[in-house]
Amino acid sequence: MFLKKIQIIALFMFAVAGNHVFAQNIITIPIETRENALVMQTDADNHLFIIYFGKKLSQTSEYQSIPAQSTQHDDNSGIHNSAYTPSGTWSISEPALQVTHADGNKSSDLVYVSHKTTKENDNISVTSIILKDPVYQVEVTLFYKIYSNENVIEQWSNIHSDEKSEIILQKYASSNLYFIAKDYYLTHYNGTWAREMQPEEEQLTAGIRVLDSKLGTRANLFQPPSFLLSFDKPASETEGKVLLGTLAWSGNFRMDFEVDSYHNLRLIAGINNYASEYPLASKQDFKTPSFIYTYSENGKGEASRNLHNWARRYRILDGEGSRLTLLNNWEATYFDFNEEKLSALFKDGKKLGVDLFLLDDGWFANKYQRNNDKAGLGDWQENVKKLPNGIGHLVKEATNTGIKFGIWVEPEMVNPKSELYEKHPDWVIKQPARPEHYMRNQLPLDLSNPEVQNFVFGVIDKLFTENPAIAYIKWDCNAITFNAYSPYLEKSKQKQSQLYVDYVRGLYKVLEKLRAKYPKVPMMLCSGGGGRVDYEALKYFTEFWPSDNTDPMERIFMQWEYSYFFPALAQSNHVTDWGKQPLKFRTDVAMMGKLGYDIVISHLNEKDLQFSKQAVSTYNSIKDIVWHGDLFRLVDPKKNDYAALMFSSKDKKRAVLFSYLVNNRYEAGSDVPFRLQGLEASKKYRIKELNLYPETKTAIKEDQTYSGDYLMTVGFNPMVNTRRTSVIMEIMEAQ
Ligand code: DGJ
Repeated sequence: MFLKKIQIIALFMFAVAGNHVFAQNIITIPIETRENALVMQTDADNHLFIIYFGKKLSQTSEYQSIPAQSTQHDDNSGIHNSAYTPSGTWSISEPALQVTHADGNKSSDLVYVSHKTTKENDNISVTSIILKDPVYQVEVTLFYKIYSNENVIEQWSNIHSDEKSEIILQKYASSNLYFIAKDYYLTHYNGTWAREMQPEEEQLTAGIRVLDSKLGTRANLFQPPSFLLSFDKPASETEGKVLLGTLAWSGNFRMDFEVDSYHNLRLIAGINNYASEYPLASKQDFKTPSFIYTYSENGKGEASRNLHNWARRYRILDGEGSRLTLLNNWEATYFDFNEEKLSALFKDGKKLGVDLFLLDDGWFANKYQRNNDKAGLGDWQENVKKLPNGIGHLVKEATNTGIKFGIWVEPEMVNPKSELYEKHPDWVIKQPARPEHYMRNQLPLDLSNPEVQNFVFGVIDKLFTENPAIAYIKWDCNAITFNAYSPYLEKSKQKQSQLYVDYVRGLYKVLEKLRAKYPKVPMMLCSGGGGRVDYEALKYFTEFWPSDNTDPMERIFMQWEYSYFFPALAQSNHVTDWGKQPLKFRTDVAMMGKLGYDIVISHLNEKDLQFSKQAVSTYNSIKDIVWHGDLFRLVDPKKNDYAALMFSSKDKKRAVLFSYLVNNRYEAGSDVPFRLQGLEASKKYRIKELNLYPETKTAIKEDQTYSGDYLMTVGFNPMVNTRRTSVIMEIMEAQ
């Protein structure tokens, strides 16, 4: 059983309840999804504590008795399971809330006032719990939005002040949770450019383990705000208790994992308060971003499918819709193109059979031309040398060729060598008295400034207004924030410590305005690869760019890790010239997400071209399953010579299996069958190999039928080996 030990407050409550003094005041609040429950309870002093997190009980009334079973003794060193830990009063634990009041006092307490649950529909409800400081006029409302069928909880808080004058928020978490288990195993991710999403699993030991970012823009370059947390022992794909958590915030974040003195685990997640004391004026609210989590007692696979189902249905823009396959010119031309070259690429895209051509960086700037990444960023006028007839002409040309047209922008950034920088030095984030410090020769614009927000909105609005047929935007963001300082906040007499938060809020304002005017146009969240991947931004974007590293060997691992948190339809995977693998391998890897190309089609030999055209059409026949089906990770490339994963349609009539060799040693490969998942035991299936390279034959028996029972019990061997390094199989119900 998950709940072995019970937190210290329980004994205290039991004693008090045993005297029948405050028993009737004790309130139990269960937050339940279809399978799970997070339960809170008040104590005699009306403080609110978490008393349970785990599998839901069939009788709600039984939750209230849970604390009585605890024998963990409080020696007055602190009470650790607060539902939102205040600071400076009775708790000495790492706080969720830290405030400097209008009179300078730094103490806070929060007592339960009331709660209510509002049902949005049969699946969604929101429970809000009001807590209040008994001494100061500060109120915190905790929100728990339940997506019942998906077993997802979206949690945030709202801090309100009725003090006479401004208070300062020193720490303002979104969520404060408490878990009780034998041990805790945290999988988190680190990396840098082209090495994104490198997993590490560690057993948490006493003290605080912090996952955070202080990078500002491109906040996830070194670490994303997503993690897996296993209880008791490391969870596998099909077994074990595991929580997947992710913060929906495109800026600095901080997550404190504290194994406390009772070997219980406290988790506090939210915006990073580093250099970010935030003022809150009288009568104003501060709404924190959402912390989103799902829990499963059946392993990581089920937990990630929960999250995928939720994200497609409720979060990612057009998450249940379709996506465009594309040909991108970035690696085909870099900055070196003109109208003629592009027209030829449109034709290549058409020949290949993709839906859209995506024009990348380098199409703009005149005074300081954008012929490399050192100049021109910020000057969003077509470069008259490369594109004398403008974007309009390109859109027309592409349309005439029978392909849609999309375009790259990086509107939040500026090169010092640009007209924009010359005209508006006060729009740039930089320290007034210190030397500038660059990443990729550029600086972020100050999105806390409403004028800058209008400018950024204007860049895209102008493109759409002048060219309504533009069908896709790639939104890049290639620099982190050094020298964080806002000329705007200075001028408007606001606090510099607002910058990190106000930047992100400014970005969301722009995206909100854009989506109000252009609700549907697909947009890729790029950020140089993996630099900005979170569930707040994905409200506005249809997909993200996981990494500039498109070496398929690396991508097998990276895409595997991203797949814990994000569904395949949101992952843009492009076939490029990175890596040593043959074209088929590169294509097969890109096909387990949203397929695109970034190669010179005219350089392909006849067979490669024939293969690629066939691959696009094969992809069109399976993309519905990859995008909207259930994902099962079957063979982990980190622990085996090969990787295998499959997607199956919700009705279990069709599935697609992908498998890749990741080790070239003698006889490496799939020499025995492995178990498939996500099929119907009683159905019969036929298996067919897809995406064969011209003139090669399959190594599997395609005329055999198998029961789902067989495939999920004995398994199937796709015969991956050094001669067949990547395979895609279609599994279809046999008639
Ligand atoms: C970084 C992106 O990740 C690339 O795909 C490309 O768009 C370049 N920026 C362009 O500067």
